[in-house]
Amino acid sequence: MTAADGRSADFTPDFTLAHLSDVHLGPLPPVGARHWNVKRLLGWLNWQRRRRHLYSRDVLDRIVADIAAQAPDHIAVTGDLANLGLPAEHEAALAWLRALGDPERVTVIPGNHDIYSRIGADPGTARWHPHMSANTAAADYAIAEAISGDQAFPFVRRFGRLAIIALNSAVPTRPLYAIGRIGKAQLDRLARILDRLGAEGLMRVVLIHHPPLPGLAKARHDLQDADALAEVLARHGAELVLHGHEHTASEHWHPSPSGHIPIIGVPSASLARPHKKEPPARYHLYRLALDTNRPMIELISRGLAEPDGPIVELERRLIVPTTGADRPLSH
Ligand SMILES: [Fe+2]
Ligand SMILES: [Fe+2]
Repeated sequence: MTAADGRSADFTPDFTLAHLSDVHLGPLPPVGARHWNVKRLLGWLNWQRRRRHLYSRDVLDRIVADIAAQAPDHIAVTGDLANLGLPAEHEAALAWLRALGDPERVTVIPGNHDIYSRIGADPGTARWHPHMSANTAAADYAIAEAISGDQAFPFVRRFGRLAIIALNSAVPTRPLYAIGRIGKAQLDRLARILDRLGAEGLMRVVLIHHPPLPGLAKARHDLQDADALAEVLARHGAELVLHGHEHTASEHWHPSPSGHIPIIGVPSASLARPHKKEPPARYHLYRLALDTNRPMIELISRGLAEPDGPIVELERRLIVPTTGADRPLSH
């Protein structure tokens, strides 16, 4: 079968990357007196009334087992491991990350439910540092700028001709808000990193929790500086952007000097049954050919076709970036 068939590819991938997101691990731990506030009270009520019946650890465990059976080269987790951003949740998420894979095989970034509200001096998501920092092969791309504290993003992980560039869009927000923000410091560094990686001809895969373009998320749920991020991507290019947050499957294309950038959202990996516009649990598996003039990307979606069913292949398609003003193709 050829690329033109649009359903499968006859290339041998150089790298396979699994992408899952929004696992929202339960159950909720007890909330300490110093962590209660209006935002957490509303989030706690929402979890007890509704969300704890939707997100299933059993379903997530089956998704993770299926990922292991597919034996990807790397696994990316784009945030919302927690629910109320509590230290005990960060601990539980760390245990889950370690079970998912070694830091060399698993990259994580925070979501708005991980950096949710105040936690005082607690290290919070910094507990995930081994899974949330540059790898040795990418040490150079950590840029010889001081990197500490909230300047730990973006970080780069390099795997041969592939580079993962990980952003943090999560910031503490007011009650009933799930907005995100990248900030000027990350955007400036992102631009320089994309230029350096692009000049080497690497496939640049950007990870972010929130949808990265304006208009992709509903109000009070969106990335506040999406305009600025869209401009950085348009100027400096990338080959693939992966995100979560909306709990839906989505695909958009964004022009850049190196071609149209596919921007792909993945649903939650633990939702036990359909909920509003959110499909039941799934993840994405990317088969990537890196040694071509044009990158070859095949997306395989695997998950629940129906509640209580097995994990199956739901969709398989080629994502074919094009250059210049060509019309992007997705089969
Ligand atoms: Fe989420
Ligand atoms: Fe989110």
